[in-house]
Formats: sequence, structure tokens, C-alpha cells
Amino acid sequence: MNPGTTLKAARRVSVFDLSQPGLGGSGITDPDFDGEHIPDELSEFATRKNTGLPELSEVDVVRHFTRLSQDTFGVDLGPYPLGSCTMKYNPKRNDAMADLPGFARVHPAQPKDSMPGLWTLFHNLQEHLAEITGMDAFTLQPAAGAHGELTGLLTIRRHFESKKQNRSVILIPDSAHGTNPASAAMSGYICKIIPTTKEGTLDVEAMRSMLDGDVAALMMTNPSTLGLFDPNIEEIAKTLHDNGSLLYYDGANLNALMGLVRPGDMGFDVIHINTHKTLSTPHGGGGPGAGPCGVKAFLEPYLPIPVVTRNDHGEIEAQFDRPLSIGRVKSYFGHVSILIKAYCYILSNGAEGLRMVSENAVLNANYMQSSLSDLLPPVFQQRCMHECLLSGGDLDVDPFDFVKRLIDFGVHPPTLVGAGCVHFSDEYDAAMLIEPTETESLAVLDDMIAQFRKVAREVAVARYMIETAPHTTDVAKIITDEPAFLSMLEADKPCDSKSS
Ligand SMILES: Cc1ncc(COP(=O)(O)O)c(C=O)c1O
Repeated sequence: MNPGTTLKAARRVSVFDLSQPGLGGSGITDPDFDGEHIPDELSEFATRKNTGLPELSEVDVVRHFTRLSQDTFGVDLGPYPLGSCTMKYNPKRNDAMADLPGFARVHPAQPKDSMPGLWTLFHNLQEHLAEITGMDAFTLQPAAGAHGELTGLLTIRRHFESKKQNRSVILIPDSAHGTNPASAAMSGYICKIIPTTKEGTLDVEAMRSMLDGDVAALMMTNPSTLGLFDPNIEEIAKTLHDNGSLLYYDGANLNALMGLVRPGDMGFDVIHINTHKTLSTPHGGGGPGAGPCGVKAFLEPYLPIPVVTRNDHGEIEAQFDRPLSIGRVKSYFGHVSILIKAYCYILSNGAEGLRMVSENAVLNANYMQSSLSDLLPPVFQQRCMHECLLSGGDLDVDPFDFVKRLIDFGVHPPTLVGAGCVHFSDEYDAAMLIEPTETESLAVLDDMIAQFRKVAREVAVARYMIETAPHTTDVAKIITDEPAFLSMLEADKPCDSKSS
């Protein structure tokens, strides 16, 4: 294909399709390079002949990749209210810090003494995370939230092994994110599912009835992926602990709680943090992100090696000699650039700022919930936390199609919860989980709300046109509610699509 091909067509091809023999950029050749020491089998590559690489001019390459970068919807382009696995805005300051040569150019295998700054950062970050969450110790190694879950569950497993207790069951609420049962199964556990009450909280009685000597832990996120804070959390923690079981916190929703309440104080024993949700780092989509895992002191000996800690002389060191450790979960020390970004976010906000982050996340979600409630009634009749669950069941169109249309108006679709959707629970058919995040301004929230209404109006118009057809004949159907329909179209207000 010709590199000068139309923009639309060019988007669908790779640089290999655009390649044309002889069409290269200019290179700088080393006049002293004679290829003498290059083994025969590598000489074609060394002299850059017959490498199989595409041949394009520099400008063609730049245009191709610039087009590709614009061919996707990202948080840098528009609001991204995808509930649960939310991608919140990544401040560019984080990137600038991670790009500092002292961080970006270190090699993980170089002597520790040659990178004291990075080691101090690891240690400080662990301490900040412990303070934010109320835990005692952290490992920064896990490469994503799901990897943090695996690490935490292996820690729990090792704990019970060392106590010579054979506990094989992990309890998981039916509203949990799919990675919870997946991680439990990968850690060798059997999952048992706890139902949710009609108020959206964990069914404590059902949990009680499932407790026995086999239960290792309950995995829970609070607020849940229904956007609700579970007020029974202390009772849940006590009931589990009385049974000798532990409480695992899926920290994906910690962004609703910073500076307000701490999982460690609620009774959780183990936690992972999704740094992409709470601390504004890129989302690894299972990795390469970061999912630091924190534990209460009694679980600290089982954390993966190396453990970064301060020794008796006050020096920060990596400890490898930890006989009870679950071993390594990641090469070296984890995804350093992501960790630097998370650290930068914590320092740039400070304690007060982090509290404001959570307060604004909750405020924005409630604003969306109440502003859209006539069109998309809340599934639970109460205030939400950082995300709201709204019912799309009354729409005159498949909610899947509804949310996809939002992309055309510059809004990323929210997560759909329910059968047949991009979902993690079958319970709430066709509900939308909307998480606007704290970074969106009032103007952006209002615009987002307007786009939801615009799609609803399109649906109403289409339905009206069909139901009132034919339109090209002299004799038409008798329409009784046309004025109501017209006024709905004129006013920039919600349409009750059922009434047309
Ligand atoms: C509640 C919950 N748990 C776990 C995960 C998995 O995290 P990750 O995608 O970082 O592996 C997510 C995704 O963000 C989530 O929303």
C-alpha cells in the first residue's frame, strides 16, 4: 500500500503493509565500520540488509503512529467513566518524575549502593501506603491488582500452612470483580460465593452459615463494585476472626476512602492496592501496572522476597534471607516507573489532598447518580461512594448499544453489569456502573450528562418515527401524544422514552 494512502485506509494497515522497497529514511553510517568481526549468520542484520524490517521514510512512520495514537479512546481524549476498572487521569508530572535520568537509567542489577534514591523511594512509598491503609508492611512487587491478589492469597496460604491448618476455602461475594475468584483458584483454593442482600450489602447471615474450619479468608472490597459502603464491615471482620479466618481487602476501590477510613482499622488483614485507580498510574490491564500488597504484622514474615526494609543500623536494605517467605513473585523489585508515579502522586497531593481526591470522587459519582436518576434510576436507593450503579432496564434500546453510542459523543462507555454485557455479575441486568473520578470538573460532568440524554433522545426519535409511520402518505395514523413528544425534543431535558 502506498504510504500516501488515505487517512482512513491507512489506519487499518500495519507499517509492513506500508513498506516499499528502497523507501527508507537517511541513516548515519560509520565510515570505520567494516563488519569484520560480525559472525556470518548475523552480518545481514548488522549491515541492515534483508532484515525483513519495513522500509518507510521517517515522516511515514511518524504519521502512521500518530494516526494510531488517535485511533483509540483514552483518558487524555475525554471522560472515561468506566466503573470498577476505572482509568483515571495520569498527571504528566508523574511521568516527568519517572523520566528523571537518576531513575530511568538505572539497571535493576547494578549495585544497590549506586541507587540510594530509588531505595529510599521504595521504602518511603511502602511507609506511605501503610499509613494510608492502616497496614503494617508492604511489598511493591506485584505487577497489577490481580497479581497483588495472588500475592496476598499465597501469603494467607503460607500463614495457615505454618500454623499446620488445612483451610481450603475462600469466600467471595457475588458482586466481586472476576479477578477475585480467579486469583483464589490460582492460589489453589476452592471459592464459595456469598449472596448480596437487596440493599446491596454482603449477606452476613449467609456468610455465617458458610463459616467452618475450612474457610481461610473472605475476599471483599469496601466500597463494593456496586459502589456501596458496607456498614457491617466490623461485624464481618469479627465473625471471620472468631472463626480463625482472615479478611482480604481488594483495594481497587480505595480511591473512595483515602484519609477518611482505613481498611486496616476496619479489620482487614491483607490488602492489595490498584495504583491505577487510586494513585493515578497507567493501568497495566493485568500488568505492567502495580498492585502493592500490604499485610498486618503477623503476616509480614510471609511477604515475597526481597523485602525492602530498614535494618538495625537504620540503613535501607533488601532482605533475601526470609525462611517463611512465599518466595519471589516478580523479577527484581516490581515495575519501578509505575511505583515512582504512584509515589509522586502521593507527595503532590499530601495528606489533605488525598482526602480531597476521595471526597471529590464520591461527590462526582453522586452528582452523576442524581442528575441521571430520571433517565437511569439508581439500582440502590441510597447515596453511592466513588461509582454509581444505574439501571438501563427502562431504556428502549439495548443498554449495550446505548453506551457504545456515547463514544461518538466523546464519552467512554461505562461498565455494563448484567447478563449478556461486559460484566462481572449476572445479578443486575443491564445496569451501568459509572465512575466519573475526581479529576472531572463540573462542566465535564454536565457535558457527560448531556451526552447520555442526547443518546436517549435519539432512541426516542427513532421509536417515534417508526411508531408514527407512515410519514409519506396523505393519510397517517392518529397521533395522540405528539405535543408531549415535541416538547421533549425541544427542551434539553430527559425523555421518558416509554411515553411516545
Ligand atoms: C474491584 C477490582 N478488583 C480487581 C481488579 C483487578 O485489577 P488489575 O486490572 O490491576 O489486575 C480491578 C480492576 O481494576 C477491580 O476493579
